[in-house]
Amino acid sequence: MAQPVLITGVAGFLGSHLADDLLGRGYSVRGIDNMIDGFKENIPDGVEFHELDCRDALGHPDLFADVAMVFHCAAAPYEGLSVFSPFLVHEHTTSATVAMLSAAVRAGVGRFVHCSSMSRYGALVPPFTEDLTPAPLTPYGIAKYAADLQVRAIADVHGMEYNIAVPHNIIGTRQRYDDPYRNVAAIMINRVLRGKQPIIYGDGSQTRCFSFVSDVVSCLTRLGTEPDIRGEIVNVGPDEGEVTVLDLSREICSIAGLDFDPVFMPARPLEVHHATCSSDKARRLLGYRTEVALRDGLTEMVEWVAKVGPKEFHYNLELEIVNELTPRTWSSRLM
Ligand SMILES: NC(=O)c1ccc[n+]([C@@H]2O[C@H](COP(=O)([O-])OP(=O)(O)OC[C@H]3O[C@@H](n4cnc5c(N)ncnc54)[C@H](O)[C@@H]3O)[C@@H](O)[C@H]2O)c1
Repeated sequence: MAQPVLITGVAGFLGSHLADDLLGRGYSVRGIDNMIDGFKENIPDGVEFHELDCRDALGHPDLFADVAMVFHCAAAPYEGLSVFSPFLVHEHTTSATVAMLSAAVRAGVGRFVHCSSMSRYGALVPPFTEDLTPAPLTPYGIAKYAADLQVRAIADVHGMEYNIAVPHNIIGTRQRYDDPYRNVAAIMINRVLRGKQPIIYGDGSQTRCFSFVSDVVSCLTRLGTEPDIRGEIVNVGPDEGEVTVLDLSREICSIAGLDFDPVFMPARPLEVHHATCSSDKARRLLGYRTEVALRDGLTEMVEWVAKVGPKEFHYNLELEIVNELTPRTWSSRLM
């Protein structure tokens, strides 16, 4: 019987899709999640689930018994919010990663795959390539890059294999859409399906690339399972189909059949204006191809949110800092 794999953040968006993929390939999957953002219904049947905070991993050696690889998807992936809740984001991003690394090394895990973020590149000149020296701007980007460095240092010295995936903005089913602090496309879809206009911070000329979740999962799986791919940092996602946030919101309104008349709010502090990555390395190393085009991915997501039902926004996380820089959508709960 194949050795089990362990996925952190398995009740979240990416972790649950990765679990589906690995189960489908015949792996036995253990998963943990502390449920700060996850949903039990996301966890695929067949996953051996443990409700646990990654920061407590060292106290649970049984979880790591015989584990061949860890896919570390848990984090507090809140770039904008991290400016106002830096401690929360640091704890669930950097501290959680270090605890998982320590427990994995102690248990003799073979390989650790870390989900980083393109926020590690900050405001460098796009398209970002993996050889750039990261220059994150936000507490989230700094937390992710710190976690990347910890992966490299701890894994290297103790002889554990590792790979680091650097996804861009991901969309797809199971993504949280009632969270007012992150997931721009999901927030817009939830609002539009409730008959409300998309909210744009700044003038909407910020540029991004979006990946559909299945295109990211296939790369993560290869980073875990390909024996000859080790010690790599790989941007994961498209480098074509770049859109402005304004065009994204127009597209969502068009798919959902709502007239387009967005609400503009002041720009958010430290938001990077142009953030796109090169996919050359992913194409070369992982055979990356964009299988799902943006409009098709958005359409699938709109249909899914419509089926599950649009929701009130849920302000579930604490704002540690509230001042004149805090977006009013958050401090006054305007969503
Ligand atoms: N979604 C994106 O657009 C995107 C883009 C780039 C990188 N990423 C990275 O991909 C990973 C997955 O993101 P996602 O979109 O699936 O987020 P998500 O919030 O849907 O999933 C993360 C899960 O981790 C859990 N979690 C958080 N802190 C934890 C802790 N301390 N211990 C145990 N569980 C914990 C949450 O409850 C949640 O279920 C993250 O590392 C994120 O930074 C995501």
